Amino acid sequence: MQSVNLGLIGGGTVGSGVYHALQLNRGLMEARLGVRLKVVKVAVKALDEPRPYEIPTDVMTTDWKAVVNDPEVHVVAELVGGVTLARTMILTALELGKPVITANKALLAKHGPELFEAARRHGTNLYYEASVAGGIPIIKALREGFVGNRFTHIYGIVNGTCNYILTRMRQEGADFGDVLADAQRLGYAEADPSLDVDGHDSAHKTGILASLAHGFWVKPEEIHVEGIRSITKIDIQFAQQLGYTIKLLGIVKLGPAQGKKAAARVQVSVYPALIPNSHVLANVNQVFNAVFVRGDVVGDTLFYGRGAGKDATASAVLSDLADAALDLKFGSKCRIPPFVPLNQGGTVMPIGEAMARYYVRLNVADRPGTMAKVATILGQAKIGISSIIQPEGHEGESVPLILMMHDAPNAALTKALAKIAKLPVVKAPPVMLRVETLE
Ligand SMILES: NC(=O)c1ccc[n+]([C@@H]2O[C@H](COP(=O)([O-])OP(=O)(O)OC[C@H]3O[C@@H](n4cnc5c(N)ncnc54)[C@H](OP(=O)(O)O)[C@@H]3O)[C@@H](O)[C@H]2O)c1
Repeated sequence: MQSVNLGLIGGGTVGSGVYHALQLNRGLMEARLGVRLKVVKVAVKALDEPRPYEIPTDVMTTDWKAVVNDPEVHVVAELVGGVTLARTMILTALELGKPVITANKALLAKHGPELFEAARRHGTNLYYEASVAGGIPIIKALREGFVGNRFTHIYGIVNGTCNYILTRMRQEGADFGDVLADAQRLGYAEADPSLDVDGHDSAHKTGILASLAHGFWVKPEEIHVEGIRSITKIDIQFAQQLGYTIKLLGIVKLGPAQGKKAAARVQVSVYPALIPNSHVLANVNQVFNAVFVRGDVVGDTLFYGRGAGKDATASAVLSDLADAALDLKFGSKCRIPPFVPLNQGGTVMPIGEAMARYYVRLNVADRPGTMAKVATILGQAKIGISSIIQPEGHEGESVPLILMMHDAPNAALTKALAKIAKLPVVKAPPVMLRVETLE
């Protein structure tokens, strides 16, 4: 039986998880692949650092180059993180013609095309199943399982921290700040939570999914990103009364075709949205992730699982290891290329052009004529109101007014809300959330 040796750079949450999972299921994988698998070296920063799973000291080193350059290492996994040294580590391994596995979404979002080009130039491959939605094999599904499809819609709950916070806010009627503090105490949120709660981590993953699905690499700065800091318990409660749940979604929607041979125009965004309670995505709770994919041939599909953590992420890395091992076994080098640019390319649609339905909450003076003034501005902008709710039980100078809007371009609504905000009867900046019906 052929042997394929893995070298790990990083022995932390994911790296030690990979070491452990391979120890656990090595025999099973070897039987399935017909390849003998072994971790021969693990680079870490400090040998005496405590690890989620133990790694024998005789395979550890503090010199990552010793892993990459070791002729006994056939496949290198970069499980360090960051966008500077990790890039050098990956490029160095690719230059030696070694297949590389990474879980590093931030790095791919920033330098994906450069890394894929380096893999191509050196006749090897770069695998990244673990970079999106942890244990859910969504990269393989988009690239292989759905190769015969055009992707019209992808909706992802791809950040466990945000989903945990929103779930608890809904279940407990709690404020964002209180749940965040608790999540930090429990280790579900980082001390600096901005990468998660401001939507950037979701944007890295959504950009990778959009790029794979539509054949042009989406740059992070092209993605419209809104996080969950501004979500209040009052909006969660009103949404609930209207039959919706608020989730932070990564959204990839194919825009209308502009001519037969025109390049794809795709909405790529991250924002909190109201989704119907009856949809399965509304019931993806706590730290779980889910990705909903609609293909023109397959129809609607849904993937659910743990989006992070040592074991779930290790499962994705082992899937990549299996692909790399089979490529080496059969000398196929790059059976499934990491990313294939499609000839006609594509562009990211500006958010202003994206169509959506909306939930708007206004704080207005409780006096006659208020609604007429608001309705006039919306009418002038050609935005239709589908329902108006003035919840009972609110007394005082100003009261909440909830408006649900029909489909309209984002730019038109934003402009109308800016005018509405200036009305003397409007007492606080309007709150706007998009409604995704997932139809
Ligand atoms: N954690 C997750 O659930 C998860 C899920 C999906 C993707 N990812 C991605 O996986 C990657 C790793 O994340 P993680 O959570 O495993 O991070 P982590 O627990 O902080 O582990 C990082 C590892 O890299 C090692 N390291 C740091 N600098 C190094 C250097 N110069 N040379 C050699 N080793 C070095 C550290 O060594 P020491 O142990 O000695 O400090 C540690 O073992 C990141 O790109 C992350 O985005 C993580």
